[in-house]
Amino acid sequence: MSLSQDDLKKFEANGYLFFPSLFSKEEVGVLTGELDDIFAREIPSNVREKNSNIVRTSFAVQMYNAAYARLARHPRMVKPVEEVFNEKLYMHQFKVNAKAAFGGDVWQWHQDFGTWHEDDGMPEPRAMNIAIFLDDVNEFNGPLMFVPGSHKRGVVNAGHDVTTTSFPLWTIDQNNIKDLVDAGGIVAPKGPAGSMIMFHSCLVHASGSNLSPWDRRTVYLSLCAVSNKITRFHRPGFISHRSFDAIECLPDDCLLRDYEVELPWSGGIPASELEASWKM
Ligand code: SIN
Ligand code: MN
Repeated sequence: MSLSQDDLKKFEANGYLFFPSLFSKEEVGVLTGELDDIFAREIPSNVREKNSNIVRTSFAVQMYNAAYARLARHPRMVKPVEEVFNEKLYMHQFKVNAKAAFGGDVWQWHQDFGTWHEDDGMPEPRAMNIAIFLDDVNEFNGPLMFVPGSHKRGVVNAGHDVTTTSFPLWTIDQNNIKDLVDAGGIVAPKGPAGSMIMFHSCLVHASGSNLSPWDRRTVYLSLCAVSNKITRFHRPGFISHRSFDAIECLPDDCLLRDYEVELPWSGGIPASELEASWKM
C-alpha cells in the first residue's frame, strides 16, 4: 500500500490517517481467533487492569504467536510508515489492548514519544503507531481520541502517572490539554473491525473507559526508524524491544497463508527480557 500526496498532506496537518475496513473480516478473524488463548496465559507480558484480573494489554504477542508474527511483517502496516520516514524500521513495541466490555479502563492523555523518550531514551520522534481495530469501534466502547495537529507541538510537558491505571505513563495535565483542544478539537475515528489508523508519536491521545457490552480490542505496532535506536533499557524487553533488526515484509496475503516466521519466545519469555534495567 502506498500513501497518496493527499494522504501525506492530511498526515502532516492532522498527525494521523484513518483507513476504514483495510483488512477483511477473514483476515481479522485469523487474529481474533488467537486472543482467548493469548489472554488466558498467566505471563508477565499480559498486564491486567488495576482493579480486576481482566487483561488490559498483551505485549509482544508477535514473539510467540504465528498469526501476530505474520501481522508484524504485514506490508499494509509497515510500508506506509517506511514511506513517511524513508528508511527501514524496527519493532519498538507490539501490543494488543483489550479495552474489555464493561471493564476496560481509561488511557490518560499522553504522547507516546514522551514515554519512549523518557523511559527508553528514544532520540527523535521518528517512530509511529499503526493500529488495527480487531472489533467494531463505536462511540460507546472507548474509541481512541486524538487532538488533531497536536503532533506539531513537539514534546508537551508531562508528569509520570504511576497511580491512575495499571500501566505507568507520562501524562499531560488538564490545563495543557484544554489549550491543545481549544486549538485542535478532539476526533475519535470509529469504524468496522479491520480499519487501520496510523498516528504520529507526538500526537496527543487518550481513551475513555469501556462501559459498553462490546470489547474494543486493538493491535498496535510501534515502528521506529532504524537510525533512531533506543538508548535506555529501563523497561522489560517485552514492553520495549531490544532488537533493532530491520523488518522484512511478507507478501500481502500473509494473514491468510501460512508463511513461516520465527517465534523466538514460543518456549516462554527469556528471563533477560523480564528484567528492567538491562545493560546492552
Ligand atoms: C495507548 O495509548 O497506547 C493505547 C490507547 C488505547 O488503546 O485506547
Ligand atoms: Mn499511547
